Amino acid sequence: LIEGIDEQGMNGKGRFRIIARDMATMARRGVLHTRRGPVQTPAFMPVGTQATVKSLTPEEVRATGSEIVLANTYHLFLRPGLEVLETVGGLHAFMGWDGPILTDSGGFQVYSLAQLRDVTERGVRFRSHIDGSLRELTPEIVIELQMLFGSDVLMPLDDVVGFSESDERQQEAMARTHRWLQRSLHRFQELTAAFAEEKRPLLFGIVQGGFDPSRRVESAHFVASLPVDGLAIGGLSVGEPKDLLYAMLDATAGELPDDRPRYLMGVGAPDDLWRAVAYGIDLFDCVLPTRLARHGALFTPTGRVDITGARFRLHTSPVDETCDCYTCRRFSAAYLHHLFRARELLGYRLATIHNVRFLQRQMETMRRAIEEGTFAAHMERFLSSYEASTA
Ligand code: GUN
Ligand code: ZN
Repeated sequence: LIEGIDEQGMNGKGRFRIIARDMATMARRGVLHTRRGPVQTPAFMPVGTQATVKSLTPEEVRATGSEIVLANTYHLFLRPGLEVLETVGGLHAFMGWDGPILTDSGGFQVYSLAQLRDVTERGVRFRSHIDGSLRELTPEIVIELQMLFGSDVLMPLDDVVGFSESDERQQEAMARTHRWLQRSLHRFQELTAAFAEEKRPLLFGIVQGGFDPSRRVESAHFVASLPVDGLAIGGLSVGEPKDLLYAMLDATAGELPDDRPRYLMGVGAPDDLWRAVAYGIDLFDCVLPTRLARHGALFTPTGRVDITGARFRLHTSPVDETCDCYTCRRFSAAYLHHLFRARELLGYRLATIHNVRFLQRQMETMRRAIEEGTFAAHMERFLSSYEASTA
């Protein structure tokens, strides 16, 4: 344990409560108590990379049933930058969202977006993908930025590597992520020492370890040994075949402490959400529902559909008859089809509302099913319908 950190005061105890468990799977029904209110879990967090869930107002985000949104330190650091966020009094005031915000650290974005990355023990230097300027993020800076944003759940800087990187690089990245986590915790503890417990933001740790199950277990044990408020599983969705996601979940799930929230980063396909919840995952984020929506791909209980397809031209009923979202209550699939064909802005907004609401309805169904002891049956029902179209 890190010197100076009071384990009792900072291990998420009391901030995460499990209220029901499924008997047939590892699914849990919980509540994460953030300083800006409770989050019912399992929960899906829509992504608001640039301080906006693309095309939606905060009221529209709320109306989808979302209780917490994700924003990205990497993007906000580059634009609008510290001066603006400090002047306007933080991220919540800036974007008009008063609910909880989880901020990702930038580890993944530096890996996926930045040019000319130079990763050293100190941190990472890179060129901004926006204007080419030279920037630096260290574990300490990343904590300071998120505190300044007013984030409610902070993520530590991690060293993310691609699927095809060497074993040596995978090992180095895991070890460095662990050392960076210790530095992150130290800075976090310094900056929050004077906070009342109910006003304190939370800091999660990130499990890495590439695609070697024993390395995943080692990373899970290391992160669990530290007084972090939750454990995230990172380093997935980096170009690997899909079955490896489940192999890694299989290796890690039983090794994560039961009493702290578990967050699977960057996963959000409807079928993956169900399966990961069965592995005991509590939190998710993904750009999938919002990004797919802008490409005219809409979720339905019988699989994803392409709204631009000719079969929707004269489709007078909603795209998803079972959906209670604003889009499906108000408009036909034919209208959505027309908006997309004409590239009308409303189409992107309506599709986004539907896709986010679709995922939030899945989460609501999961939470109810765990409480009622019917999770496995509901999962089976969803998957057999959703996957029938692609099978
Ligand atoms: N988002 C998706 N995967 C990751 C990851 O491995 N690290 C971070 N920081 N964010 C992510
Ligand atoms: Zn809908």
